[in-house]
Amino acid sequence: MTNNKSRSQVFFNEDGVSGLVHRAFTRAMGYDDDDLKRPLIGICNTYSELNNCNSNLRDICEAVKRGVLQAGGFPLEFPTISLGEIYLSPTSMLYRNLAAMDTEEMIRGNPLDGVVLLTNCDKTTPAALMGAASADIPTIMVSGGPMLNGHFQGEILGACTDCRRYTTEYQAGTIDEATYKAVEENLVRSAGHCMVMGTASTMNSLMEALGMALPGNGAIPAVDSRRLRLAEHAGRQIVKLVEQNIKPSDILTADAFDNAIRLLHALGGSTNAIVHLPAIAGRCGVDLPLSRFDELSRTTPILTNLKPVGQYQMEDLYYAGGIPAVLKQLLPLLHEDALTVTGQTLAENVANAEIINPDLIRTLDSPLQPEGGLSILTGNLAPDGAVIKHAAASSELLHHRGRAIVFNGMDDLRARINDPDLDVTKDDILVLQNVGPVGGPGMPEVGNLPIPRKLLKEGVRDMVRISDARMSGTSYGTIVLHVAPESAIGGNLALVQTGDKIELDVENRRIHLHVTDEELAQRRKKWQAPQPAFKRGYGQMYLRTVNQAPLGVDFDFLRGADPVEVTEQPKF
Ligand code: FES
Repeated sequence: MTNNKSRSQVFFNEDGVSGLVHRAFTRAMGYDDDDLKRPLIGICNTYSELNNCNSNLRDICEAVKRGVLQAGGFPLEFPTISLGEIYLSPTSMLYRNLAAMDTEEMIRGNPLDGVVLLTNCDKTTPAALMGAASADIPTIMVSGGPMLNGHFQGEILGACTDCRRYTTEYQAGTIDEATYKAVEENLVRSAGHCMVMGTASTMNSLMEALGMALPGNGAIPAVDSRRLRLAEHAGRQIVKLVEQNIKPSDILTADAFDNAIRLLHALGGSTNAIVHLPAIAGRCGVDLPLSRFDELSRTTPILTNLKPVGQYQMEDLYYAGGIPAVLKQLLPLLHEDALTVTGQTLAENVANAEIINPDLIRTLDSPLQPEGGLSILTGNLAPDGAVIKHAAASSELLHHRGRAIVFNGMDDLRARINDPDLDVTKDDILVLQNVGPVGGPGMPEVGNLPIPRKLLKEGVRDMVRISDARMSGTSYGTIVLHVAPESAIGGNLALVQTGDKIELDVENRRIHLHVTDEELAQRRKKWQAPQPAFKRGYGQMYLRTVNQAPLGVDFDFLRGADPVEVTEQPKF
């Protein structure tokens, strides 16, 4: 089954002591000659008790192993760093590239013929694919799936769109403590990732459009037995991919990224995809400028009625037909001949998909919104671009001119945002500096600045907010993110002062600071960079090498691929 040039066969059949040791130490785990002849499939498992969203990956892994064995492969599981949104500080994004390096180097360093990547929570999916794309051996992504819907007093709850909404109402005094506690009790019912169309839902769904996951990966609930059957299927399929030598570089083409961006817009997906997709593309040598997201946004309707843009959640999406039904509707806009890990084209994968709930999955003739929900803004405030999820914004604020109220970092924000004496009105624009890739550090999800409590009590629920941070894909509001260049490296965002006028014009994709170039030049002379957040270790390397948001916040030295050679072997 395996040709003699496979990495595993070279490893197990080396001459002399090396081959003896490789075989003998593998036998120590109970394997015999029959196992050693088979294609060696690594199962890269991001299970961790520090990552609740990935808590079902042990069961998923067992299912993948069954599939690998059924197809004649030899499965060996290995762990990599797991990035949980809930536990990691200061932000999981700080460690995404570290996880990508871990994945790449474990694929590179071990004699694997193929790999199945088990991921789920937000950063685990892009990190694993970034690493695998650079190593470039046959690969399939399998995610753990979304949580079941939360239920509370007849209402469907979604993490974490409704976490934020109920917190806002609690702070505004419209619900009492008992109700707030009851929401906490009823929100998260099962294993899995957040069940609204947040970042994890977005990235795990986009794996289908990229062609790197089997149909169904995006929406099958984490605890549905069909998720285990999908994993078992992936185990069988990775052995076929090895036989056919289909690698990420065969699949992750410019067309595949177009398909992923189209699906991103059709889903009303997370702004974080506009960081992760350029990072993955950068590993593949695919040029993916921010302008491509905007071009495709203008010509891709929103087809799914999903929170935070709409009303349903991932569990409902699966029952409604899942991602294959959405892709089938989108086919006229897609590169339908793109190759996928099934060995078939994207169009062939979704040929039998059907819409079961037409209120949730719309058609091109009757979309939820006629254009995509994400825009790329430019202007003197963001010469290299900024992002807004206008589908989740207040329509009356999409063209707005207001006075800037500036906070120079998170400490300043925390200290003053709820000060009763803060001079702020609902028409002002809240600006947060020093929360980008370098300044954050790690570009934390703090772009959805809280509305000042005194305005909350007046009934204000949205304002224009601008920063170089990201925001959770589960968030909503009129929020401008990913401003580049960021303030901590001297982008114009660093020069904004309270009282300046800023104009947001989403229709014309413009974000403008009404301050003259001469005045900005004067301010720049006095500007001082903030103290670096790290002086040693991984953090110091991060600060030295991290790219800005339009390049996906990858490290400069990690862009591109360095495919492992078939005969590359560790020496004993
Ligand atoms: Fe893991 Fe939301 S916290 S996906």
